[in-house]
Amino acid sequence: MKNKKIIIAIDGLSGCGKSSTAKLLAKEMNYKYLDSGAMYRAATLYIIENSIDYKNLKKLKNILDEIRLEFIKENTSDSYQIFLNNKNVEKKIRSKKVSELVSEISKISIIRKKLVKMQRTIGDNKGIVMEGRDIATVVFPDAELKIFMQADINVRAKRRLKEFEKIGKKISLKEVKLNLLERDNKDSSRKDSPLKITSDSLILDTTSISLKDQIEFIKKEAKKIIN
Ligand code: DC
Repeated sequence: MKNKKIIIAIDGLSGCGKSSTAKLLAKEMNYKYLDSGAMYRAATLYIIENSIDYKNLKKLKNILDEIRLEFIKENTSDSYQIFLNNKNVEKKIRSKKVSELVSEISKISIIRKKLVKMQRTIGDNKGIVMEGRDIATVVFPDAELKIFMQADINVRAKRRLKEFEKIGKKISLKEVKLNLLERDNKDSSRKDSPLKITSDSLILDTTSISLKDQIEFIKKEAKKIIN
């Protein structure tokens, strides 16, 4: 692909394959990749580990400066991992505890404000694939390419279950499905930056298409803009 760098925003509900697609797409296009959900998860982990009363907004505001997030490539891994205050928390942020609380934490506007600012700084130079819930609506409303991913709930639950199994976490399919439905509801109905499809987004339903085809679809659309 030519030199013009663009921002590719990928939004969608949990488990519709955003991360796998965005990661591989970024690699193939030689773009940066940012998992904004990992940032909300890391903030949630910090709140859990430090028993922070997140409902006390005044206290929370002071504590926000203690949360330092970085994405670092480790020798053992091919991809970037998220570090919270110098500790690699890539595995910890995927725990059941964090998954259960993260939608509650990501509703809080002062947290969103801090993380959106970081996301804009990271994506400033373009040449990035950023995935989340509000990338096309809030973080980069001028992104050149906006993709909204969706998939059948049963397919999404099975995919998430596999991810839990990969990191050795025992959880039932029913539990995973319930957590997804609960988060779908919270992420789509919150006041600040709910998940929404913008009129200029392209819908990509991943229920029955392969990862390779998903990437080909996005790359084809990107080429139309870049060339
Ligand atoms: O993509 P994920 O499932 O790892 O995201 C975890 C949570 O973070 C999700 O339930 C909602 C929140 N999130 C958000 O509010 N805004 C984003 N841009 C990304 C994630």
